[in-house]
Amino acid sequence: MMITIDDNRKQFHLTNGKISYLFHVMKNGHLGHLYYGKAIKTVGHIADFQRYDIPTPNTTHLEANDPAFTMETTRQEFPVFGATDFREPALGIQQANGSHISNFVFDSYRVVKGKPMLEGLPATYVTSEEEAETVEITLYDAVTDMKLLLSYTIFKDVAVITRHARVTNRGEATLILDRLLSGSIDFPHADFDMLQLSGAWSRERHLKERKLESGIQSISSLRGSSSHSQNPFLALKEPDATESTGDVYGFNLVYSSNFLAQVEVDHYEQTRVSMGIHPFGFQWKLEPGESFQAPEVVMAFSPNGLNGLSKQLHDVYRNHLINQKWLDAPRPVMLNNWEATYHDFNEEIILAIAKEAVDLDLDLFVLDDGWFGKRNSDTTSLGDWFVNKEKLPNGLGKLAQDIRDLGLDFGLWFEPEMVSPDSDLYREHPDWVVKTPGRSASYGRNQWVLDFSNKEVVAYLYERMRALIEETQLSYIKWDMNRNITEAYSSTLPAAQQGEFYHRYILGVYQLYENLTSKFPDVLFESCAGGGGRFDPGMLYYAPQGWISDNTDPVERLHIQYGTSIAYPISSFGTHVSATPNHQTGRTTSLSFRAHVALFGTFGYELNPLGFSAEEKVEIRKQVALYKQHQHLMLTGDFIRLKNPADGNEAAWMMVNETGEEALVSHYRILAESNPGKMKFLRLKGLESDAYYRCQDTEGVVRHYYGSELMYRGIPLKGEFNGANGELSIPMQIGDFQSEIFYISKEEGEV
Ligand code: DGJ
Repeated sequence: MMITIDDNRKQFHLTNGKISYLFHVMKNGHLGHLYYGKAIKTVGHIADFQRYDIPTPNTTHLEANDPAFTMETTRQEFPVFGATDFREPALGIQQANGSHISNFVFDSYRVVKGKPMLEGLPATYVTSEEEAETVEITLYDAVTDMKLLLSYTIFKDVAVITRHARVTNRGEATLILDRLLSGSIDFPHADFDMLQLSGAWSRERHLKERKLESGIQSISSLRGSSSHSQNPFLALKEPDATESTGDVYGFNLVYSSNFLAQVEVDHYEQTRVSMGIHPFGFQWKLEPGESFQAPEVVMAFSPNGLNGLSKQLHDVYRNHLINQKWLDAPRPVMLNNWEATYHDFNEEIILAIAKEAVDLDLDLFVLDDGWFGKRNSDTTSLGDWFVNKEKLPNGLGKLAQDIRDLGLDFGLWFEPEMVSPDSDLYREHPDWVVKTPGRSASYGRNQWVLDFSNKEVVAYLYERMRALIEETQLSYIKWDMNRNITEAYSSTLPAAQQGEFYHRYILGVYQLYENLTSKFPDVLFESCAGGGGRFDPGMLYYAPQGWISDNTDPVERLHIQYGTSIAYPISSFGTHVSATPNHQTGRTTSLSFRAHVALFGTFGYELNPLGFSAEEKVEIRKQVALYKQHQHLMLTGDFIRLKNPADGNEAAWMMVNETGEEALVSHYRILAESNPGKMKFLRLKGLESDAYYRCQDTEGVVRHYYGSELMYRGIPLKGEFNGANGELSIPMQIGDFQSEIFYISKEEGEV
């Protein structure tokens, strides 16, 4: 049993031996937060130490004779504003008389084995009831006649709790919900650093850190997607926590649209973390009997630093969020033609490239943007999902068959949510565009956004995509989304419901994903939004991999992959080897450096293979073989970050299997160093100290070490030093952008 309830004290304890989460019903009927962190045993009176305020002349309190009982600094589970709590709340309801005050008091609870699904929204799940336990608490506000359901799930195998909230209008009056976050939690101190994954187009999810300060600090998106700029993730870590030590709490929203992730430090240095749909511009009309479901927030805890936190998040996403079909099934190694041809191709070129892909031992050919309508540039034809006969005169079905006959699977790019002003779809359905009446519609990449809150639009796209999937029997779809939403408005919603637009839009996106993935369960989806502009757990539920950035420069990717790995598993990274000089940065790097970076992901190529030399082809075949040999580690191993590229000239990480028996390690040196003066060792993690390991380097040279040597002294890296000191003779590493890959495997042998 993972959830124990003390009915006398009305105290709830969720624990799986790794973490404990405790809350109770306070004397006003609200839920008070008691503890979240490493698993504890408690004799029960933990609630006696729930802190109420120290009354000052300035304190407001709920009862005349109890000046200390105030919500002002009390730690809560789902706070409301205005009745002695002045911090930002989790919920706001506008009532007929204009009031926003509410008072949700404990009504009942039920414990459920496993985890009920959320209606219409992606969420973590279990495949058997034994994997998790859920407690649903029902609270009730008598004045609005409204029910609030707070759901908490604890998983058996990971240090993770998921939460969500749902409100139901049980009364006679229409209510307007203008805030419903997914979760809120109050910590008793503010001695934390806040971590976030921030960036911009082509430099997504760089890890940023700041010390918590009094007041509000937040990250958010109001772009209609989770965004390149901020990811719906934040973590609080003890200030001296490292990659492998110290307490870290992570919060991740399973949602792909406007979000708010906020930390508020109050005047007694307590910390409130809240996360959910961004309340700005949000309103939801609740007629009698109607409910509103907020998305799920995933909360992970690690007492072992950031690598520990990542392991919990990677495990929960792999085991309980992505479609289990893709958990350990080999992902195809692809060739995508985007950076090879951009829009400029024809059937002959595509088949020539595909032939080369076969020769390079690749599995899948992906035809990117440009195959439909009159799409010869990004100025036209989005929405016209019919083959461009000028480029592909024999049609898509024939091309797909020809490619399959060569021995490759076939995949296709779509951008279903968009329409070009110059398109037949727009000419037929001008009212399908997101646009505010009487105002102009702003452009982004020369395109407009289709109104996915309109069911007719979603149904049309489903039919078109279904027909094309059947015609081409494709096995992979790259679903792109290249601009943010502006002038948000739906012609299908009445004025009083325009605040529902963004959420209804993303529900439409989820619906289309749901319909396609259930109709075509064998098709692999890769999400994309101008690179990594919608890389979030909501997308992972439908698409087990995502194109992490339009920036394919391997040095830039070191930073992006490092940051992204804080929350997301390596098996979800779309990583390709592209041409040199790189198209985004102009940087020249070796084929091997590019591949060594891309290996830690789902691996593929995005370049023109025509014209490769025989040596280059041999090298690529070796890279593909190396990836295929170790892909199981990328899919199911534990990713451990060893060196952060932001700290200096190096990056390093490794994938190790659960038992510590084998690992793939990589080290990257960005710029050449003149006379570094000493031999460098890379210290590994996650191995067995006493085990005897075989270690094969990039050139195939094999050495043997004990686990303790590898972890505490480290693998000698190539350097300027040439072993004159009696050390192993390690060849020099010359030039910028150098990398080494080591395959470590346990062996019977010396002890
Ligand atoms: C943006 C994507 O991130 C690229 O990989 C490519 O698919 C282009 N869109 C195509 O327009």
